[in-house]
Amino acid sequence: MDMLKIENDISLKAFNTFGIDVKAAQFLTIQSVDSLKVLRQEGFLAKKMLILGGGSNLLFTNDFQGLVLYNSLKGVEIVGEDKHYIMIKAWGGESWCDFVDYTVKNNWGGLENLSLIPGTVGAAPVQNIGAYGAELKDCLYTLEAFNLETGEIKEFSNSLCAFGYRDSIFKNKEKGEWFVLNVTFCLDKNPNPRITYAPLNNILKNKIDVNIQEISATVKQIRRSKLPDPQELCNAGSFFKNPVLSQEQLNNLQNRRPNLPYYNLGNHQYKISAAWLIEKAGWKGYRNGQVGVNGKQPLVLVNFGGASGSDILNLSKQIQSSLFKKFGINLEREVRVV
Ligand code: FAD
Ligand code: EPU
Repeated sequence: MDMLKIENDISLKAFNTFGIDVKAAQFLTIQSVDSLKVLRQEGFLAKKMLILGGGSNLLFTNDFQGLVLYNSLKGVEIVGEDKHYIMIKAWGGESWCDFVDYTVKNNWGGLENLSLIPGTVGAAPVQNIGAYGAELKDCLYTLEAFNLETGEIKEFSNSLCAFGYRDSIFKNKEKGEWFVLNVTFCLDKNPNPRITYAPLNNILKNKIDVNIQEISATVKQIRRSKLPDPQELCNAGSFFKNPVLSQEQLNNLQNRRPNLPYYNLGNHQYKISAAWLIEKAGWKGYRNGQVGVNGKQPLVLVNFGGASGSDILNLSKQIQSSLFKKFGINLEREVRVV
C-alpha cells in the first residue's frame, strides 16, 4: 500500500487553469500503472473519481467529494521506425506542449500545428484536440487505456477511439470509464507541412520550403497574440464548441446574417464561428465582477481572480440563452463542468 499516498482535503486551485479554489476530498498522484491496479484491488476505484491532467479543460463548481487521480505517468520512447515513419509512445502524464516541441526539434512531422496547447498527452485524445488545421486523430496510431472498473488494459486503434470534432469515445459513450495510459503516434520523417488554415497561411504563404519548426513558431506566435496565458489570466481556452449546422440551418441563418463566417466540412455540414456570434451578440470584452468574456477571443471566458465556478457557469448560461434568442443557435460546452 506504500504506493498509495492518498492525501485528504487538497486545494485544486493550482490544478485547474480557471484557478477555481475548490477542494478534493481525496487526491492521489498516479506514477505507475501498478498503483492503478492496486487501487482497484483495494476497492478505491468503485468510488466517485476524477482523472485529472493539467486541468485546462475543466470547470469546478463545487468541492469534489471523491478521489482525484492526478496523472503523472512519465516517459517517451521510440517504439518503431522505418525510412519514412517513426512511432513514438508518450505516457499520459507528459506535458503536451513539451512533447510537441521535442518532436518538432527532431523534425518528425505531424504535431507542429498543435503546438502550445496546454495539458497532458493522456487528455489529448479525450476531446481529440485540434488547432490550425490539424487534429490529434491525424497522427494517433494507438493508445492504451486502463478500465477503472474491470482493470482491463486495452489497446485502442485510431478508429476504436471514435474521434470527432472535440469528441471521442472517452468524452462521450465511455466517459469516465478509461484512464488513458499512453499514446503512440506515427510521425513523418519527411514532414508534409499543412498551412491551409487561413491565419497560418496569411503569414507563411510567401515562404518557400516552409519547415515544421517555422510552422510551430508561427502557430505559437498567433496563439500568444489572441489567447490569454492562464498563468496571467485564468481561462480554459474555448469554453464552447463551434456549432455544426446542416445546409438548411446555414441558409436560414445566412439570410439574416450574410457575413456569418463558415467552413464547409463536407457531407452538407458547416462549421460556423461561435466567436463571431458571441461578438455580434455584444459579449466581447464583457465583464461582471470577477468574470468576463475575453476581448480578443470571445470564445474564451476568464476569471480575473477569485471567481467561483458557478460565477463562470452562470455567465456561460447567459451567453447561451442570448445566442439562442438572437440566432436560434444552441452553443454546446467544450469545457467539462465538475
Ligand atoms: P484536464 O482538463 O485535466 O481533463 C480534461 C478531461 O479529460 C476531463 O474530463 C478529465 O477527466 C479527462 N482526462 C484527463 N486525463 C485523462 C486520462 N489520462 N485518461 C482519461 N481521461 C482523462 N484544446 C484544443 O483542442 N485546441 C486548442 O487550441 C486549445 N487551446 C487551449 C488554450 C488554452 C489557453 C487553454 C487553457 C486550453 C486550451 N484547450 C485547447 C483545451 C485543453 O488544453 C485541452 O482540452 C487539453 O487536452 C486538456 O488537457 P488536460 O491535461 O489539462 O486535461
Ligand atoms: N472571430 C470573431 N471575433 C473575434 C475572434 C474571432 O468574429 O473576436 C471569428 C473570425 O471570423 C475568425 C473566426 O472567429 O476568423 C475563428 O477564430 P479563431 O481562428 O480564433 O478560431 P476559433 O474558431 O474561435 C478554434 C478552436 C480553438 C483553436 C482555434 C485555432 C474551437 C471551439 N476552438 O477557435 O481551440 O485553437 O480554432 O484552430 O474549435 C480550444 O478548443 O480550447 C481552442 C482554443
